[in-house]
Amino acid sequence: MTIKDARGLAMSGADQAAADAFEAALAEFQCYVGNPVGTIEAALQAQPGFTMGHVLRGYLYGSSSEAPGMREAAASFEAARALPADARERQHVAALAALAAGDFAAAAQRWEALLVEYPRDILALQIAHLVDFFRGDARNLRDRIARRLHAWTKADPGYHAVLSMHAFGLEEMGEYDRAEERGRESVSINPRDGWGYHAVAHVLEMRNQPEDGIRWLSSTSAKWAPESFFKVHNWWHLALYHLELDQTDAVLKLYDGPIRSERSAVALDLIDASAMLWRLYLRGQDVGDRWREVADTWAATIEDGVYAFNDAHALMAYVGAGDEARIRQQLATLRRSAEAGDGSNRAMARDVGVPVGEAIVAFGQGRYCDVVERLQHLRPIASRFGGSHAQRDLLDLTLIEAARRAGDRNLFAALASERGSSRPRSPLARRYREAAQAA
Ligand SMILES: [Fe+2]
Repeated sequence: MTIKDARGLAMSGADQAAADAFEAALAEFQCYVGNPVGTIEAALQAQPGFTMGHVLRGYLYGSSSEAPGMREAAASFEAARALPADARERQHVAALAALAAGDFAAAAQRWEALLVEYPRDILALQIAHLVDFFRGDARNLRDRIARRLHAWTKADPGYHAVLSMHAFGLEEMGEYDRAEERGRESVSINPRDGWGYHAVAHVLEMRNQPEDGIRWLSSTSAKWAPESFFKVHNWWHLALYHLELDQTDAVLKLYDGPIRSERSAVALDLIDASAMLWRLYLRGQDVGDRWREVADTWAATIEDGVYAFNDAHALMAYVGAGDEARIRQQLATLRRSAEAGDGSNRAMARDVGVPVGEAIVAFGQGRYCDVVERLQHLRPIASRFGGSHAQRDLLDLTLIEAARRAGDRNLFAALASERGSSRPRSPLARRYREAAQAA
């Protein structure tokens, strides 16, 4: 008898125990809690011929944006390719090969072809959603989910994850009301869905409602934080609201606490550390020796050149720490990626990573006109190297501060006007407007 998953899709090489472990790992992945890698690896030990088990393991590693993870994803592909597979599973195995090679565009095309035929394949949907995030593909963050909604009902297991993904995509496309509604619905169905809380957090960030954001994430942290491997990022969002309100003590308390106390070497966590310290640095805030710790932890990835978005954030730490040798080394890695990198990262590094990296270095050296030159016309295409609007706001902040320090009064006034328009309640935006007027 063919074993099927909870959505009725056949799984080659699985027994009931393997299928149960697959569902358990998937449920962990959908909420970003627990240890889905450990869960599926235990199942694969007992059932090494379980094709979708290897695929899930490869996807989990392949979504790390780190070199060791990409190697594990390639190993999972090697294990899966020789195993029995039906047409759907063969599509998964081919997509895993593309993901492990860093070819996000090819992988996304495979998943889309699969999802047109199997709209209930929520693993394909989630991994494609993450890769859409890595590519900054806002349209697909929303619409790849929307194209599947016809096949889902509230009663289906995992529906909360469909909602939370749709919520985030709606938010990235600027549909804040619908995004908030969907995000809140997702966590009402499954209070552990960290992506759902995150989607609502983004809505409150983009609507410039920091007080509401603080209330939202603080009042729900007991639900999204325990055993979550996504929690640092939600804590980072909470700190971002405090920063918007000029509550620097609260920011540093969160930074030294849940954001950085574990000194995580995970790239996604290091991005949050760099991004928060850089925002403080732009404000002229002394962050003590915090940069040194982040720079030392980033250093393990300095030669990898896997993902330009990571490399740009690593550069912030090296600039913050004043580490000239690592600045040169990281810039060289970025430029090498732009010229001869693997897969999607080549264009990401070439189009966005290198100019952003050069702007960060220029800012650290006080060459503010060079920062302006690199960033002013880049912002409309900056999404190509991934991340969210909230993360890429760092480029806006870097540019406006560089224009101010460069003494470029007209550009500074223009950018202050822009920021005041999108963030009407922001004390920082108000200060910029007042400074522009005074100049
Ligand atoms: Fe976020």
